[in-house]
Amino acid sequence: MNKTEIRILAIESSCDETAAAVVSNGQRILSNVVASQIEMHRQYGGVFPEAASRQHVLVVSSVIKEAMQKAHLNFNELDAIAVTRGPGLAGSLVVGVNAAKGLALATGKPLIGVNHLEGHIYSAWLVGKDEERKADPEFPLVALLVSGGHSEIIFMRDHLRYERLGGTLDDAAGEAFDKSARLIGLPYPGGPSIQEAAKNGDSKSFHFPKAKLDNPFDFSFSGLKTSVLRTVQGLSGEDGSELPVADLAASFQRTVAETLFGRTIEAAKTKRAKSIVVAGGVSANSDVRALFEGQRDFPVFIPALKYCTDNAAMIGAAAYQRFLKEIFEGSDFDVMPTWPLARVSLA
Ligand code: KG4
Ligand code: ZN
Repeated sequence: MNKTEIRILAIESSCDETAAAVVSNGQRILSNVVASQIEMHRQYGGVFPEAASRQHVLVVSSVIKEAMQKAHLNFNELDAIAVTRGPGLAGSLVVGVNAAKGLALATGKPLIGVNHLEGHIYSAWLVGKDEERKADPEFPLVALLVSGGHSEIIFMRDHLRYERLGGTLDDAAGEAFDKSARLIGLPYPGGPSIQEAAKNGDSKSFHFPKAKLDNPFDFSFSGLKTSVLRTVQGLSGEDGSELPVADLAASFQRTVAETLFGRTIEAAKTKRAKSIVVAGGVSANSDVRALFEGQRDFPVFIPALKYCTDNAAMIGAAAYQRFLKEIFEGSDFDVMPTWPLARVSLA
């Protein structure tokens, strides 16, 4: 065994994905297994927490086993066990946490708790088993973290050092996608549905508002959602003809993407960042990616599509940094600010 290689088994169960992965040196993915519950929750139009917990219980052992088999490792060859400790649905988190605790107890390996949001940020460091790594994000950096429960702009001076510059005052970006999709008659999850519908639409058809706030790095998406609702109500009353779904989707998507992009670039300029990281489920969005990839002011790191939404490899990448800090500095680092629990509702 190569002594400089640190291999971490990571487990993620904070919402509606049961995931396990083995990550080497915080970057290289030796295996990455994700059991998604999206199909099950679609009938409810959102995540049904009780059903999510039960499903995690059913599959967590086999997902972990599969991750170990695919990595061709046995538990003794691991250096640590990592798990998402929050934020997320309490009943879902507890399944992964208890599985990880059991493994740590049985193997004697250290247990590393990871904040789900820092996991998303560290997805920008991941590289597939046979892929070539180009470069790592350089510090200081500005991270745009946009998921179903959170939208934050975070400044990082170094690994594991987080300063929140701003974020959403109401709905998260993914939540705005999910709710607006429902308003225009598209299925859950709203992000991918809106993106698909928008392909055939004109983003200039409708003018939706971009909230201006005191803190230039904050977001507010509730006004946008209301504007979509009013537009849909106005159009529905017209003559019984079908809604221009594609145009509505394209205009909405453009508004969100431009808002996220503009405020992140502003933050990066203000903080003189050397790079930008864009992560979380909404970073899978084609408009968001195109805007960031189209600018030349900052090197941008956006994870490959499969690592944008929830997975355990990102938890393994963040856990590696915590592992190094504990070894070299011997302290219990807990510098990630505590965010409220993810807002996932049936409404
Ligand atoms: O990061 P994630 O998988 O879970 C949370 O931690 O919340 O993000 C899920 C969110 C959902 O709201 C989903 O609609 C959104 O990410 N999403 C997208 C896209 N794919 C997923 N939003 C916009 N465009 C996409 N392609
Ligand atoms: Zn997430």
